[in-house]
Formats: sequence, structure tokens, C-alpha cells
Amino acid sequence: MDGQSAGPAGPAGTTRTKDDVPTRGVHHLALTTEDMKATVEFYVGVLGMKLVHAMKVPEGVGTVDNRGNPPWERLRHYFFDMGGDSLYAFFEIPKGERPQTDRDAIGGMQHVAFACSAERFQDIQDRLKAHGVPADGPIEILPGIWSVYFHDNNDIRLEACCKLDEGDAQGVVDSVTQTRAEAAEELLTLGDEDWIDMVAPNLKP
Ligand SMILES: [Fe+2]
Repeated sequence: MDGQSAGPAGPAGTTRTKDDVPTRGVHHLALTTEDMKATVEFYVGVLGMKLVHAMKVPEGVGTVDNRGNPPWERLRHYFFDMGGDSLYAFFEIPKGERPQTDRDAIGGMQHVAFACSAERFQDIQDRLKAHGVPADGPIEILPGIWSVYFHDNNDIRLEACCKLDEGDAQGVVDSVTQTRAEAAEELLTLGDEDWIDMVAPNLKP
């Protein structure tokens, strides 16, 4: 790697590092439910998130000035604090108007994984158990990284993810960033060495 290759979205002559990415993180996820009350009770009552905003989508946005929103008027649209200064939101779709999604469909959302401190990781497992929500795990998904998998009231697949030995100081990106040699084992199935240098100059040496 010569350090001069332009990243795929970087300005010419520069490379991106992990501290120079175009986004800070998730502002909000917007999911769908057909039962907002049960959804509030799951995320607040079972997981312990905080409900921070409850609204109906303003008149006209659904069917007149639609920006990609669900095509109905005055839908409930609620937001929860999922930590890390990020929001977790739902639209309430009218009952029976849409089928249950296939989480493996192309362009769909397979699952959401929440980063948790070690204390919260245990708390979530205790809460799931107390509410009779089935869960798989903890499973060590990568060295030192443990996950518990479960489903919300909408059958959305969720994951709580934790580095048990890091307490409150959970790192995410650095803990999974591979060395160039590790990533190359897979990336060479898609392109050559020059292509790897172009798309992944940020890998560890
Ligand atoms: Fe995952």
C-alpha cells in the first residue's frame, strides 16, 4: 500500500482511516410494527429503553408529499433511545395491510445488534428471562465478543453484543478490524491485491 491511493469515496490523493469516515454512526433506525403499544411495552418494559418521542406523521406526508414514508396518513411514529446518542424508531402500519417481512429478503434487515456494557449484557439476559422471552446464547461470535440472540414482539431478530472483559469501555470497530493478511483471505475471492489496497487501506498492517 503506498498511502496515496484514493479510497472508494475519498477525495483524490487521500485515504480514509477509521477516524475519517463519512458518518458518525446511526442517527435512527426506522422499523415497522402493527402494534405500537406492544412495541412500547417490549422495548421499554422488557429491554429497559426509554421512549423519547411519540408523534403521528403530519397530515399529507403519507399520501401527498410522500418522501418514502409508509403510504398512510397520520401513522404513529415513536422513537426510543438506544444509547450511543442513537434512536430506534417505529412506524405503526395499519393492521393487516402488509405481510410479515422475510428478514433474509434482499435489501431487508436481517437483524439489529445492540452494543452493551458487561453489566447491561447481563441485565438484558435477566430481563428476557423474567419476561419469558426465548434467547440463544451467550455465544462467543468472535474471540472475546459474546452475543445473545432473541426476537421482539414484531419478530424482529435482535442481538445483544458485548466484550465481557471491557466493562463499560466497550470498543466495537477496532475489536473486529482485521489485519490486511486476515482480510485478504476473503477479499482475494472478489479482487486482486491492488483492489484490496483501493477498497481497504484502513486494515491493520
Ligand atoms: Fe450479528
